[in-house]
Amino acid sequence: MSTNDFYDRIVGLRALRSYRHDPISDEDLTLLLEAARWTGSSKNQQNWSFVVVDGDQKERLAGCGDYTIPVSEAPVAIALVEEPGGYEFDTGRVAQNIMLAADAIGIASCPITLHRDGDVATVLGLPEGARCRYAIAVGYPSDEAAPRRFGGRKPLSEVAYRNRHGDPV
Ligand SMILES: Cc1cc2nc3c(=O)[nH]c(=O)nc-3n(C[C@H](O)[C@H](O)[C@H](O)COP(=O)(O)O)c2cc1C
Repeated sequence: MSTNDFYDRIVGLRALRSYRHDPISDEDLTLLLEAARWTGSSKNQQNWSFVVVDGDQKERLAGCGDYTIPVSEAPVAIALVEEPGGYEFDTGRVAQNIMLAADAIGIASCPITLHRDGDVATVLGLPEGARCRYAIAVGYPSDEAAPRRFGGRKPLSEVAYRNRHGDPV
């Protein structure tokens, strides 16, 4: 079985929670937003928007979820907004594109759940019908190696089947 670097980066992608304090450069931020923008979506509707959050506003955003320390510690968080008609599946694809793009340019990232999306709407000033339940914390990685927090993954035999649920691939 042969792989290549790109495949290995996909399989090895980690949620990283330790960041240097320096801000993300405008060029790198643009690369992340471009990766988000070019994500495929249902019927190519692109019913999404991305709010770059930093400074005091980042602390307000962190207050909208229960496990948001990475938002506090990263220089920037990118809030993923589902505009009216948007699908959570599309938002998930955006999140993964941002994380893979970040990894490709040497930026650490962590997906974050914003459990109180009503509060997020107020903090970000979202228009009626728009919703934001997830953000990606991003920053240049600190030197400390981040231990894998919740272990590895279930074996393939527990998650992949052929033709009928439960039948082995
Ligand atoms: C939908 C989603 C929501 C997540 N929310 C949080 C969160 O609120 N806080 C956090 O620290 N990590 C969050 N994570 C990161 C997961 O904990 C992480 O991806 C998982 O533990 C696997 O870790 P690894 O990627 O380092 O193997 C979230 C991940 C996903 C996919």
